[in-house]
Amino acid sequence: MSQGPSPGAGAARPGTNGPLVTDGPYELTGEMVTLLAPTSRRLVLNRRGSTVWQVTGDRGDHAVKLGYPAAPTHQYTALAPAREATILRQLGQDGVYWGEWARGTWSVQPWYDGKSVWDLWEPHRTGKERRNLETDALSCARALAGLHAEGWVHGDVQPAHFLLGRHGTRLIDLGLARGGEVPAIYDFPHRGCLVHYESPEMSRSVLTTGTAVPTSASDVFGLGAGLFLSATGLRAIDFPADAERAEQRRVIARGRIRPVTIPGRLGKIIEAMLSPGPADRPSSADVCAALG
Ligand SMILES: Nc1ncnc2c1ncn2[C@@H]1O[C@H](COP(=O)(O)OP(=O)(O)O)[C@@H](O)[C@H]1O
Ligand SMILES: [Mg+2]
Repeated sequence: MSQGPSPGAGAARPGTNGPLVTDGPYELTGEMVTLLAPTSRRLVLNRRGSTVWQVTGDRGDHAVKLGYPAAPTHQYTALAPAREATILRQLGQDGVYWGEWARGTWSVQPWYDGKSVWDLWEPHRTGKERRNLETDALSCARALAGLHAEGWVHGDVQPAHFLLGRHGTRLIDLGLARGGEVPAIYDFPHRGCLVHYESPEMSRSVLTTGTAVPTSASDVFGLGAGLFLSATGLRAIDFPADAERAEQRRVIARGRIRPVTIPGRLGKIIEAMLSPGPADRPSSADVCAALG
């Protein structure tokens, strides 16, 4: 069982010189089986250098992540699970473990039962059913504001990362978060978000330097863009879906936001969250106040 950074097998750092890049999904290792004594498991996803399992065992349900290089140029995805786990531990989350495996790092964290805001709003978005979106939006904003109040920035805000459940809303996937100490062996620079939720200043930075430093203001933009997309099905900035990533970023960097047609105070606050200039955006606490 690994409860923290452990010496890797062999001299190489995980994910930095693996012989080849393969696609997964990757199986649980013996170490994980010993740790969790699974009675069943379900593959949640395998993409972009990450295999995620929901594992059920005597100790409850856990999310298990195995990171591996997404491409020869994307070795850092191999480090993301351990990076995230060290952050979860700093935030006081119990039931968090990490270690290294043949292609990278892995992590274990408690499973949180909930539906993402994207999934939850699907019937509303497609016109099947009206839903009061404000309450859900407020719970997402509270989750983000809670993280910000602890001195952390998420760095990868997207609607799939807010899980709304019976016990409130949890903001997951802290693999790109910043705020405390991350062991140097697991750290890597931020190379941008999923562009749907990336702020204009982040896009500009990635275009000019290849990396960006996420801020609470870029998180707020991400939340605004995520709520807007979840409510309407439209990207907040109408970048060309099929263009190269750099071209998409050039369009985002210009900061021309679609008109926000969502009614009421939710629409107003989303419009403010999507302000092209970071200084013009409300803080996550302001968003909570506006919706509370
Ligand atoms: N702690 C968790 N509780 C419940 N579901 C989770 C948890 N962690 C991850 N998931 C599920 O796995 C998906 C991918 O996890 P995520 O942390 O976003 O990994 P990745 O780094 O590959 O993006 C999430 O969208 C969610 O459906
Ligand atoms: Mg994710």
